[in-house]
Amino acid sequence: MNAPADLPPAPESRRLPIRRLRVDLSKGFPALWCGGEAFRTHYHNALSMSFPIGEQFFIDAVKKGVTMLPLEQQAAWAEEVRGFVGQEATHRFLHAQFNAELERQGLKNYWQGWAARRIKRGEQMHPVNHVAVTAAYEHFTAVMATGLLTHPNWMEGAPPDLALLWRWHAVEESEHKTVAFDLYRAMGGSERRRILWFVYVSVQFLVESTLQTSINLWRAGQWWKPRTWWQAARYLFGPRGVWAASFVPLLEYLRPGFHPNQLGNADEMAQWLQTQRDAYSIVAG
Ligand SMILES: [Fe+2]
Ligand SMILES: [Fe+2]
Repeated sequence: MNAPADLPPAPESRRLPIRRLRVDLSKGFPALWCGGEAFRTHYHNALSMSFPIGEQFFIDAVKKGVTMLPLEQQAAWAEEVRGFVGQEATHRFLHAQFNAELERQGLKNYWQGWAARRIKRGEQMHPVNHVAVTAAYEHFTAVMATGLLTHPNWMEGAPPDLALLWRWHAVEESEHKTVAFDLYRAMGGSERRRILWFVYVSVQFLVESTLQTSINLWRAGQWWKPRTWWQAARYLFGPRGVWAASFVPLLEYLRPGFHPNQLGNADEMAQWLQTQRDAYSIVAG
């Protein structure tokens, strides 16, 4: 697929800050770090397990996708791509440290193996599909990021360093949520293909996050406890839970003409960045 000449122009050169977060994960953290609750802890653990391999895929997809654009557009994208890659690379680095601690605690990351096999199978697909998959996942992460920043109860009881890690990741996912989406459009990707990939990614995400969370709970000896499932019901389906915060914004992606900027959380992001000024330094951007 070649980018037609009448495509939307490249985004105005946008600098995404790359931050160094002042957290130290080397000293480890408690097995039930998320407020002492097994379900919230192992759900977030499962998500973290998917990040390093997923974020490497997003980086590769965006870098490759840009090379498919006409040369004069590639230069205009360089700044934005550099920020996107820098942010995702930093997330990978810190979540790999987080995951190493999970391994020390006896958990096993199956999700990365499932993802690795899928990435291998899709290697020969046209890069526009990789960018579509990336844009779909980035919508998931941006919606969950908004949930995390607007619902303090999601991280309630977490050690300050870990709450910081998850909220910083949420802010940066919100900052760069349009990169893969706009690149997909710039590559000439159709609305139909974008929406179909989102449906595929949604099913895959639901199945794999459920399986990895269940495996984590099993290995931690928490699966059989009724309390775990009461926590799950409240966290997933309660009035301040994941479903209530995410379901409608996730479905928005199915609407032809949707753009991630139509969903916003600028106030929460600005507030977090303001109140956490001492927790990070900007190393580029
Ligand atoms: Fe990320
Ligand atoms: Fe991202």
